[in-house]
Amino acid sequence: MALLEVNKLSKAFGGVKAVQNVSFSIDAGIVYSVIGPNGAGKTTLFNLITGVYTPSEGEIRLDGKEIAGAGPHTLARLGVARTFQNLQVCMNMTALENVMVGAHLRLDRNLIKAALRFPALRRRDGELRDEAAALMHFVGLDKYVAARADAMPYGALKRLEIARALAAKPRLLFLDEPAAGLNPKETIEVDHLVRKVADSGVTVVLVEHDMKMVMNLSDRILVLDYGKKLTEGSAAEVRRNPDVIAAYLGAHA
Ligand SMILES: Nc1ncnc2c1ncn2[C@@H]1O[C@H](COP(=O)(O)OP(=O)(O)OP(=O)(O)O)[C@@H](O)[C@H]1O
Ligand SMILES: [Mg+2]
Repeated sequence: MALLEVNKLSKAFGGVKAVQNVSFSIDAGIVYSVIGPNGAGKTTLFNLITGVYTPSEGEIRLDGKEIAGAGPHTLARLGVARTFQNLQVCMNMTALENVMVGAHLRLDRNLIKAALRFPALRRRDGELRDEAAALMHFVGLDKYVAARADAMPYGALKRLEIARALAAKPRLLFLDEPAAGLNPKETIEVDHLVRKVADSGVTVVLVEHDMKMVMNLSDRILVLDYGKKLTEGSAAEVRRNPDVIAAYLGAHA
């Protein structure tokens, strides 16, 4: 059985059909990319699967169980985590605290409240700090462990978001344009990081405009255009598909 199954998924905002009748499935252990021109519905698709939006129509199954309409906390506990196209880092916290927020997503909220009152549980907080520091090391941000988020460069914040998402110990990780706004060197670093995450056993779903990175990393690619599924296949299949070429040329004309 596929890890994630999306069946005839649609989302409309007033008259805008952002996602229309899209179906696909993702096997565990792969890197699956979603590409398409600006406004194609990629972020909306992520928002539907990660519980930000409720679908207008369609089904989303994780391990065969319906998750459409489940909130982000429930999904976090089921092993779904994400990053955001527009950075959503808490700028008045430290980098480490931002990563710890990701871990808290997977924990019981009552336990967190209790941890503030009881010393024995407060020790758990120390463990979370250690875990968060290890994740910052994993994403290559050792030198920012004690930094405030607002003192970090943009490229480091993009990787901080990945560390925060990993703190929830996801099985399925959605990355919405992790290389957006990065220079070529930083882009290669993120490319390597995504590979490392995938090699650690996390199934990765990637939205990215950097085609070199997409072609390099993806086991399968879904192409959206105007909210609809244009095609799906391996990198080689997608690259030579005339509809895909036309969609991109049209978008950039
Ligand atoms: N909350 C919303 N309310 C109204 N319209 C929306 C909303 N979110 C997205 N849309 C519209 O849905 C369509 C798809 O947007 P979406 O952000 O999913 O595209 P995208 O593929 O992620 O584009 P990009 O590559 O620019 O990030 C667009 O026409 C957009 O304006
Ligand atoms: Mg988007």
